[in-house]
Amino acid sequence: MAIVYSAEHRVFKLDTASTSYLLQVGPENYLLHLYYGAKVSDADLGYLSYTVYHSSHYPRVRMETPPEPFFSKGVHRMEYSCNGCGDFRGSALSILRSTGTADTDIQYVSHKIYAGKPEIEGQPATYAGETEATTLEILCRDSVSGAEVTLFYTVFENYGAMTRHVVVRNASAEPMDIQRVMSACVDFHDANDMDFIHLYGNWGRERAFERTPLIHGIQGAVSKRGCSSHMQNPFIALCSRNATEETGDVYGFNFVYTGNFSATAEMDSDGGARVLVGINPEGFLWHLDPGERFVAPEVVMVYSGEGLGGMSRTFHRLYRNNLCRGPWKNRKRPILINNWEATYFKFDEEKLYDIAKTASELGIEMLVMDDGWFGSRDTARSGLGDWFVNENKLKGGLGKLVERVNALGMKFGIWFEPEMVSEDSDLFRAHPDWALQTPNRRMSIARYQYVLDMSRADVRDYLFDCIKKVMDNANIAYIKWDFNRSLSEVGSALLAPNRQQEVFHRYVLGLYELLERILTAYPDLLLEGCASGGGRFDPAWLYYAPQFWTSDDTDAIERLDIQYGTSLCYPASAMGAHVSACPNHQVKRTTPLQTRGAVAMAGTFGYELDLTKLTDAEKDVVRQQCADYHQYYDVIHNGDLYRLISPWKDRTRCAWMFVSADKSEALVTYAVMRSEVYQRYYVRLAGLDPNRRYRNEQTGQILSGDTLMNAGICIPEVLRDFDSRVFHLTAID
Ligand code: GLA
Repeated sequence: MAIVYSAEHRVFKLDTASTSYLLQVGPENYLLHLYYGAKVSDADLGYLSYTVYHSSHYPRVRMETPPEPFFSKGVHRMEYSCNGCGDFRGSALSILRSTGTADTDIQYVSHKIYAGKPEIEGQPATYAGETEATTLEILCRDSVSGAEVTLFYTVFENYGAMTRHVVVRNASAEPMDIQRVMSACVDFHDANDMDFIHLYGNWGRERAFERTPLIHGIQGAVSKRGCSSHMQNPFIALCSRNATEETGDVYGFNFVYTGNFSATAEMDSDGGARVLVGINPEGFLWHLDPGERFVAPEVVMVYSGEGLGGMSRTFHRLYRNNLCRGPWKNRKRPILINNWEATYFKFDEEKLYDIAKTASELGIEMLVMDDGWFGSRDTARSGLGDWFVNENKLKGGLGKLVERVNALGMKFGIWFEPEMVSEDSDLFRAHPDWALQTPNRRMSIARYQYVLDMSRADVRDYLFDCIKKVMDNANIAYIKWDFNRSLSEVGSALLAPNRQQEVFHRYVLGLYELLERILTAYPDLLLEGCASGGGRFDPAWLYYAPQFWTSDDTDAIERLDIQYGTSLCYPASAMGAHVSACPNHQVKRTTPLQTRGAVAMAGTFGYELDLTKLTDAEKDVVRQQCADYHQYYDVIHNGDLYRLISPWKDRTRCAWMFVSADKSEALVTYAVMRSEVYQRYYVRLAGLDPNRRYRNEQTGQILSGDTLMNAGICIPEVLRDFDSRVFHLTAID
């Protein structure tokens, strides 16, 4: 059994194939954290609750039975920390009682262990069959306030991954308000030699990799934008200072939520550290009447003893197999051509058809019609919300265009930004109260648009009907679901004052509900998420949309940084990546078409340029890229990623490779960011079978896996700026 409870020691031991996590029912039934890391054999790790008592300043819990052992919530490693009762580190839980005080204190009551994993109703989460995972539920109670707190832990036995979430129930006769409820709390005994990793960024520069020593005090990533955001991703990791790509301890935390989050690590003066991950408490207060429950979203926790690469590969496998759902989980994604950078708002049905026709001749499989096809949408200033076809642009209607594109043998996809409304739109004129707003305060406008109140059922019904009309009138295979501004003046016209602080979270729940409804009505639909590029690239979205537009920055060299950071926890099969025109529209750089293809191929591949303007020679390159995509699809989308040279470290070059699960095949990509006179010629590979020999299909050279991984491959020429090489290795024995 992957989870065992030792009644003798009152210890829970949660194991995967490679990790262990232990906690204990300690003095007075307080839950103590004992251990998280590489797999260990012993179940009686109670000695790990030992901690030195230095000062009388720590409040001590009065013990009922002498002789009194030392126990202090301010010193011990707590399993799920509470506010205001002697633990002065960050709290996982704080509940405002009807007394007006926020003292919170939970103790163990009972537990259940069972095969499989429960769903989190109405929220995205990883899923598992009965043989894949085991779950522990621990019921705790605050005997004073009457709050009941259930801590959920699921271990994925084959992955080195576990998930957690929390349910709070008001089991008292009085109302209460949750001020904060983190989904995971992990206390590390010794964090003195650890680093902190997070993915920061901005528009066009998402998920920049940053690794710093863990310092005393609080470090973290937060969002209060109403979305997971470009600026910080809901991912943090702690790792040993000496951890590399393939060695050392790494603990990754990823929040399955697309709204405000907080993921922090707090290091004490005694060298311990507490990680807290959950909904950002700022802008959150959840009212619970007697009997009501609140379900906090899921956190995925991955421990790897094989460095950052090991952590990433675990996240990738888990997300590909146990988070992404539906037919597109395993179905090959179509190569798409998106018209955004080709035309922006200036297109009509003939222009789109011409692009599609050329695309079909080159091997591209789907046309995506981006922003501008509806309402009075000729610029970004108007039209959002008016989701009816603009027949001045698409003469003869959408159905006709889709039929013509289908007749070319291509699928058709369409862009929506459902959560938004332009100030200049019929929808806003008819329903100004449908936008998020607060009493008597001017609404902030961004990109000429407001945000619809997704907590409202009538708003969601309207959006569902609009999308349904489009879906039912044409053969739509794909929707790109965009979201181009953050939430401000967050209030809902329908909620009472004591519920207004719930709107941020209710918005997210409303969004989930709408997405679920659409996917239920159109189960074959392929959804691609987008948020001004990658502003909502998070695991919650991957539950609905197996691919997400990674960034509006389509420059191949910028994408090396962006895709490297994104790959820390998200698989290639999730990363929308397109070949675009040169000079690049965002950074004006000119890169070889071959490099643009090689970089985009490390994601869900597509094009975003006017194909009709390509020369014949360029068309031949595109044709070859499409063929390569089919040839390498399996190793990229289902294989294991090994990052070989980090663009964040080297700044002159970058390399990575995918290896098939059976290690019979690998694809190595090497790109030069800045050419140097003394180039380094050798790249050591990883992940191969040391005992097999591989043929390099580009050079013909045959070498064993151990040679390739220790001596490396040779790049036998000086490559110019932005040049790249791709090598396909196949095992010959
Ligand atoms: C966002 C998206 C782009 C494009 C535009 C359209 O910026 O990220 O890909 O769809 O909106 O307005």
